[in-house]
Amino acid sequence: MGGCYARVVGSVKAAAHRAYEGDEVAMATLAINGGMPVRSTRYPAWPEENDEEYVEAVAEVVRSGEWGGFPEPGRKAGEFEAAFAAYQGARHGILMMNGTVTMEVACKALGIGWGDEVIIPALTFAATAYAPMAAGALPVIVDVTRETWTIDPALVEAAITSRTKAIIPVHLGHQVADMDALTAIATKHGLAIIEDCAHAHGQQWNGKGAGCIGDFGSFSHQSSKILTSGEGGTLLTSDDTLAMAAHSIIDCGRPKDADEKSYTFGANYRLSELNAALLVVAMTRFPAQQAQRALAGKAFEAMAAQIPGIRVMPHDPRVTRWSFYNYILAMDPDAFAGRTNEMVCAAMEAEGIEAEVQYPSMNRYDLFQPSLSRLPVAVEYADRLDPSKMSFPVAEAAGQRESIYFMETTFRDGNQGIQDAAEALAKIQANADELPQL
Ligand SMILES: Cc1ncc(COP(=O)(O)O)c(C=O)c1O
Repeated sequence: MGGCYARVVGSVKAAAHRAYEGDEVAMATLAINGGMPVRSTRYPAWPEENDEEYVEAVAEVVRSGEWGGFPEPGRKAGEFEAAFAAYQGARHGILMMNGTVTMEVACKALGIGWGDEVIIPALTFAATAYAPMAAGALPVIVDVTRETWTIDPALVEAAITSRTKAIIPVHLGHQVADMDALTAIATKHGLAIIEDCAHAHGQQWNGKGAGCIGDFGSFSHQSSKILTSGEGGTLLTSDDTLAMAAHSIIDCGRPKDADEKSYTFGANYRLSELNAALLVVAMTRFPAQQAQRALAGKAFEAMAAQIPGIRVMPHDPRVTRWSFYNYILAMDPDAFAGRTNEMVCAAMEAEGIEAEVQYPSMNRYDLFQPSLSRLPVAVEYADRLDPSKMSFPVAEAAGQRESIYFMETTFRDGNQGIQDAAEALAKIQANADELPQL
């Protein structure tokens, strides 16, 4: 791969040089300025389109007349729950509407609510903060580490109060949070852990599946995710009582115990059998897709690591099976003529490669509007939920200047797919002073 990368960069540099020399009129090199894009073909679609196996799976449910998720779990839901839980290594899977309510349900099943605090990282999708709030608890946001962009265990420990009930680490992009340190802290302080695994289907840490280390693991099956049914979410747990509570909460509080006496306070968060049928098929393909994506990810990483100003996150040897949703890189704006990640991602798009900045730090995030919820009505919460009073230097640097997320589809088009992505990034870096100033 290294040789191939050198050839790629060499040809890019030569092309850039030719464009500016001789009597030829200087032309733009970067596609964002009208130059020739590195890639003109589409990456493979995700979710997989025009796929008869998926069509037939949904058709079968339509024909059966069993469309809904009641009685809970439905036939297809139960089949998927068992298969996915076994793959990750949990005793129970509980399928529901999405990977946001999963975390809300996890909080509720753990008895977390009004007056409680839940510690979450500053770099994540807004859902991680929404979920404890939906259960009535205060999300206490702490910064991530520069090396991993996952929650900083030292800051977690410093944020613990007598009201803290849980930690929600996020396995961001292709990373796994430091579950050893977090488990030690949780054990010491009697806290629950809900792993936000929306990005981490298939990951393993010390031989244990993501989502099977804490009390609950929460997964998303929304369209862009690597195990998808358009919408959907699964909670994993190996605790029989928690599993029963979660099943009950998503099924209007119906009892799930043998003598059907234990009601909970619940609502309808069931997923339809149409979605569940898609997941049953997706699960049969997932192990091979995950292994192939991991190989492509490693090859891409080797190429990307050679581009000046690109920081590849170190591989933690405790990640024993690697799987990822987005692959994340950090860029140094100084090596890109002072341009931001937003500008570089726009230039990548123009070169034909899907790349995104993704999440801003929680205090700069349009989707995080705690003042519009009812929680800050409590005077003691008002200040703690005011984004203007928050500061997360590492997450802010990531979101404002450094993060580049590569979509999973980049890794499903063989060598060409990843070479194009690396070539585009190298081309942009080499010609960064041509980029518009934002
Ligand atoms: C880190 C993280 N957590 C939670 C979610 C929520 O999942 P869903 O869209 O299924 O509600 C997402 C979705 O993008 C996510 O990225």
